[in-house]
Order: sequence, then C-alpha cells, then structure tokens
Amino acid sequence: MVSCPHRIPDVSRSVPVVPPALLAAALALTLTSCAGGGGGGGGDGEGTRKGAAGLRDPYFPKLGNGGYDVTHYTLTLGYTPPSGTATAAHLRGTAVITARATRDLGAFNLDLRGMDVASVAVEGAAARWKRAGQELTVTPGGGLDEGETFRTTVRYSGTPETITDPDGSQEGWLPTADGVLALGEPTGSMTWFPGNHHPSDKAAYDITVTVPEGLRAVSNGELTSETVDGGRATYSWRVVEPMASYLATIAVGRYEIGRYEIGRSTVGRGEGKGRLPVYVAVDPTQAEDSRAVLGRIPEVVAWAEGKFGPYPFSSTGAIVERPQDVAYALETQNRPVFPGAPGLPLLVHELAHQWYGDSVTPKSWRDMWLNEGFATYAEWLWEEDHGGDSAQETFDALYDGDHFRDAEANEAVWDFPPAKPPSAARISDSPVYERGAMVLHKIRQAVGDAAFFELIRGWAAAHRHGNADTADFTAYAEKFAAKAAPDADLTPVWEDWLYGEGRPPKP
Ligand code: TRP
Ligand code: ZN
Repeated sequence: MVSCPHRIPDVSRSVPVVPPALLAAALALTLTSCAGGGGGGGGDGEGTRKGAAGLRDPYFPKLGNGGYDVTHYTLTLGYTPPSGTATAAHLRGTAVITARATRDLGAFNLDLRGMDVASVAVEGAAARWKRAGQELTVTPGGGLDEGETFRTTVRYSGTPETITDPDGSQEGWLPTADGVLALGEPTGSMTWFPGNHHPSDKAAYDITVTVPEGLRAVSNGELTSETVDGGRATYSWRVVEPMASYLATIAVGRYEIGRYEIGRSTVGRGEGKGRLPVYVAVDPTQAEDSRAVLGRIPEVVAWAEGKFGPYPFSSTGAIVERPQDVAYALETQNRPVFPGAPGLPLLVHELAHQWYGDSVTPKSWRDMWLNEGFATYAEWLWEEDHGGDSAQETFDALYDGDHFRDAEANEAVWDFPPAKPPSAARISDSPVYERGAMVLHKIRQAVGDAAFFELIRGWAAAHRHGNADTADFTAYAEKFAAKAAPDADLTPVWEDWLYGEGRPPKP
C-alpha cells in the first residue's frame, strides 16, 4: 500500500525553496518575538504579575498563555453567510472561559487573531483589555489569586481569518460552497474563539451555533439540542472529555446526516462497555462516494479498540466537506474531518488519532511524531490484519526506498529525525509520519509482538485524556521493556531512529 502525503497544501509544491538567508532571517525573527513574548514574571509586584504571553513552544512560541489553566469553554456563536458586502461581519461570538489561576495574576493573556472585541469581563465585572497581534491582554479589576477559578467573558464579532501556515497550507476559517469549516491544526482555532490555544491546555467545551434555517452546524462531542426559531436554527454540542483547541471544529452548511449507535468492545474494562453514538455529516456532493467507506466506521472502531484499548470518547463519527484550497484531513475530536470522501487507510488513520493525538495529546508541537507516527502505524497494522502487506513489509519498502512511487518521496523519509523537525514548516513532513511509524516498528522488533501491543495500549491508557512528550514516551517504553522484555535494547531505537540524522544502517 502506498499512503499519500497527509497534508498537501495546494501551493507549497510550486513555492520555491526558501533561500537560507531568508530562512535565517525568519528564525531570527522568531527568536526575537519569543524573547519579547515571554511576558511572565518581571518581578513587578503582587497585583501586577502577568501571566506569560506564550508557552515557548519550540515551533510556535507565542501560542498559548501561562498563569492559568482552562477547564471549560462555552462558545455561543452566530453565523451569517457572507453577503454581497464583503465587509459584513459574519461571526458573532460570546466566549465564556472558565480557568484556574496557577499563580497570582494581575493580568493574563488570551490568543485571538483578527475579529473585533466588544467587551471583556472577568467574574461579571468589566475588565480592561488591549490587543497586540494575536495576544489579547486582560487586566481584571481586582487581581486573581493562585488557585482561584475565574470566568472570563469575551464578546466579539467579525469575519475570521484564514491562516496560511509555515508549510503553505491553509487553516482556521475555511469557506465552503454553502458555509464554512473551521480547522485548527496547529494554530487556526484562535481565528474563531479566544482561548489558551496551545495543545497542553485541554478543556471541556459547550459549543452552540446559530445559523440560518436550512443550514446545519456540526461540531465536536454530542448534539444536545437542536431548535428552530424565527428563521434561525441553533445546534448545541457538548464535549465532556478534555479537548485540545486545535481539535475543535465547526462545520456549517447543508449535510446529509447519519446517526446511529454501535456496540463498544468490552476490552477488559468497564468503561469500554455500552453503546457509542455515531454522528456523520456529509456534504451532499460527497454523499455517494462516502457511503461505503463511512459505513465501515463501526468495524474500524471495533478493530482499533482491539489494538489500542477502549475508545476514549463518548461519541464518534466523521465530517466530509469541501473546503476551498484544503486537501488534508484532520483528526478533529470525536469526528474527524475529511476533504472529500476518504479512502479506508485515511479513515483508519484519523480514527487512530482519537487515541493517539486526541486522547494522548502532545505537550508541544515538537512531539508531533507521537501523533502521526502512531496514526501511520495504525494504517500499517490495519493492512497487516486485512490481508495486505505486513508491517514488516511496509517497513522494508520504506527502508529500501520503494514505498512511494516517487523517488524524491522515498528519499524525503530520511530528511530529519522524527523527534526533531528542523522548523515549523516541516512538522507534517514524511519523517514525522513514515519514519515515526518506523520507530514504532523498531520497538516492536526489539520487544516482540505481545509486549509491543501491550505497550501501545498501556501508553494510551497511561496518558488517557492528558498530554505527553517524547521523553515521556521513551521513559515509558524503557520502563515497560525492563519488565516485559528485559533482553530488549531500545537505545539504538532512540539514538538511530528517533533522534539520529539520516538513514540508520541496516542492523
Ligand atoms: N493531522 C493531520 C493528519 O491526520 C494532518 C494535518 C493537518 C497537519 N493539519 C496539520 C499536520 C498541521 C501538521 C500540522 O495527518
Ligand atoms: Zn495524522
């Protein structure tokens, strides 16, 4: 099987390679803004202590904010399709953000890109606020004490932006023929709601969207109400399990809807028992092509539960849309988004992300291979279990350079180590996906099948609904191997396959 590149920006292939001088300039710029955006501390006394304006993510330093931890978002949104007057605001929102201060705070930041802010209140009292780039700094009337839970209400409106990422792909607010699709990996969710937009701060969500009657709004989690009033239809979605903001989505348009329940496997634990609601929304132009493959969701979920452990969320499904200029799928929580009818390997990939990425979420964008290596390996495992190539054969084809039709693509697997993408533009490149999967296969070779499958289930269970980074993974694997496969030596896996430059020598 030849898996396709996972993220195909329409333009990037034709974009000339950035000259090294420019790249250096861009890096310098990033560093400057990192230092400037550090924000926190400053030692300027009790009441004025500021939460950091960024979490110093190695690839997106300004993303996220320090000093607090969001537990819940209530997003109440009104969407009006763009009309002839291109300037008409078409999203109105109220975000109520419940968070806990992790230190005394005189001020704190939210990430919001574009949009007009009308007001900000903290605990019901009007707060001062100012904006600079994607940072919305809020200064509440009284300070906040460490440990205090506080609610921030932001009213805003406008036409959200579409973001072009460092790799040339589009994300954020993506127009479709009859509505819009919001996608947020890695930074796009800050275009449509204010928040702590770093994967390390996960929260529960209530998302309510009002749209013109005749359109439908689909989001993550479970649909809790659906009402029509005065020509407007309102859909409320509830996400009970923690969700990283990059996995939040809304899709507005006309859809063919499929709703049903499937049995969950009972894989050893009580939590896996019962029924799992499935909600599928498909753009009508894609309905015919999507029917057969989406009909296999129950089979894929059951298979994945057998491999990875109990499905981590309280519903599943899919959204099939046709956003303009976007050709990639995204593992939006509960309900992955596909840019047109997916093939079966892509369905397997995005559903596997529900365990690896959505439930166990990276601590930073450097840990991307923990998402994509696992989801790619899931495709290999599916293939192996369904009469196709074994994972060993897929591994060998990649190693020998005859996996992809294209010679350049086979070479690109060795461009950089999976755990160290050289820049933000490369976090969705082949080394993160294919070589990331090869790392997992090397572990499997080292510890043997039984221990390996126990390890990848144990990893999903150990960090269920949490965050983890590469060091957590290698430590977990080492500890696990010490017990389950004491003769296994994982050192070369880390040194050569995970962190090493170039194509490792054949053992
Ligand atoms: N995560 C997506 C997948 O399933 C691909 C993707 C979409 C992506 N947007 C991204 C990867 C941004 C990195 C960055 O493969
Ligand atoms: Zn993926």
